[in-house]
Amino acid sequence: MRTFVSKHVQQLRPSGIRRFFDIAATMQDVITLGIGEPDFATPDHIAQKGADAILNGQTAYTSNSGTIELRRAIAGQLSARYGVSYDPGCELLVTVGVSEALWLALKAICDPGDEVLVVEPCFVANPAAVEMAGGVAVMVPTRAENDFQVTADDLEARITPRTKAILISYPNNPTGAVLSPERMADLAAVAERHDLVVISDEIYERLVYGVQHVNFASLPGMRERTILLSGMSKSYAMTGWRIGYAAAPAPIMEAMRKLHQYLIMSAPTMGQAAALQAILHGEDDVERMRTSYDARRRLIVEGFNRLGLTCFEPRGAFYAFPSVANTGMDDEAFCEALLLEERVAVIPGSAFGQSGKGFIRASYTASYGDIERALVRIERFMVRRGLVQPAALTV
Ligand SMILES: Cc1ncc(COP(=O)(O)O)c(C=O)c1O
Repeated sequence: MRTFVSKHVQQLRPSGIRRFFDIAATMQDVITLGIGEPDFATPDHIAQKGADAILNGQTAYTSNSGTIELRRAIAGQLSARYGVSYDPGCELLVTVGVSEALWLALKAICDPGDEVLVVEPCFVANPAAVEMAGGVAVMVPTRAENDFQVTADDLEARITPRTKAILISYPNNPTGAVLSPERMADLAAVAERHDLVVISDEIYERLVYGVQHVNFASLPGMRERTILLSGMSKSYAMTGWRIGYAAAPAPIMEAMRKLHQYLIMSAPTMGQAAALQAILHGEDDVERMRTSYDARRRLIVEGFNRLGLTCFEPRGAFYAFPSVANTGMDDEAFCEALLLEERVAVIPGSAFGQSGKGFIRASYTASYGDIERALVRIERFMVRRGLVQPAALTV
């Protein structure tokens, strides 16, 4: 029998994250710092609204764009937080997570062969999403010495007549980097100079520590060339509800809505009811969870640095991204040995792009106690190899 799977899909690279989860799933007593999602359950009052929606018979499709109440609430939040205004009637779309919104954005703008600059290391779906949309992903590396912030020079060096868009995600998965106002202004100038659209995935916008999140569309002149993506998953511990959104100028939004209408129809109705509650009444929950992540962030970053795994200070999201260069192992070998010997699961940085090579991603959504125990295990792993003195951490 012939192979039925298309060449296009055969050529998509499988996610580098999966392999480690598959190994970890076969083992007992693994402490996982691998998962990129909150360890909190969705706050009760938010979950209750979703449950009420189901029990009250709100189980039909909504408007393709999402309920007008939710779109108004999203517009209100964007305006109050960042001073950027979107018309809930024609510039906002409720999606099945940022995952769907990302694909819609790329599909809406890419003609075959159009190039999209993808700043990396990045969320594993980004280059695949560009390719699935018919574009060509041109990876733009970032570096630890720049705190993983993209530079104008690195972007401009890769711009060709086919370049259509820049895809950024700050606060960043996997590095935890945020973009400084100066770097943001540089990026905006590049977009303007070369007439590019910027897809800005701001899903971690609410999880920042000691810095202010700057919304890309709020920069002077950027609203008209930005497709803004965000959602409920990370800020409100709602990954399973599958609610995200896109905000963009009306002509782009119209294209995205057309795709969404044929592909999805409408985002989950009960999820939308819960999302409305989250936006209107979830502020204390966001702050409670953010404060808890912040304590764990300080624990893990300090722990890695004391073990000689140099870790720049992540100011956003919930990931630490230490270097394992000092160990003499590459990131894949380090992660595999650590998992097999000490049952701690972290992800090789190279799964997120070439510039992640030599780093590991450790998610600090594990409990404080589990992070402490994981650090003790990592210490033992390092001591066994003569890389640190015993009790670097435990005294
Ligand atoms: C940067 C980034 N964007 C998007 C997503 C997917 O988000 P959603 O749950 O809204 O589809 C993730 C999930 O890990 C992410 O890290």
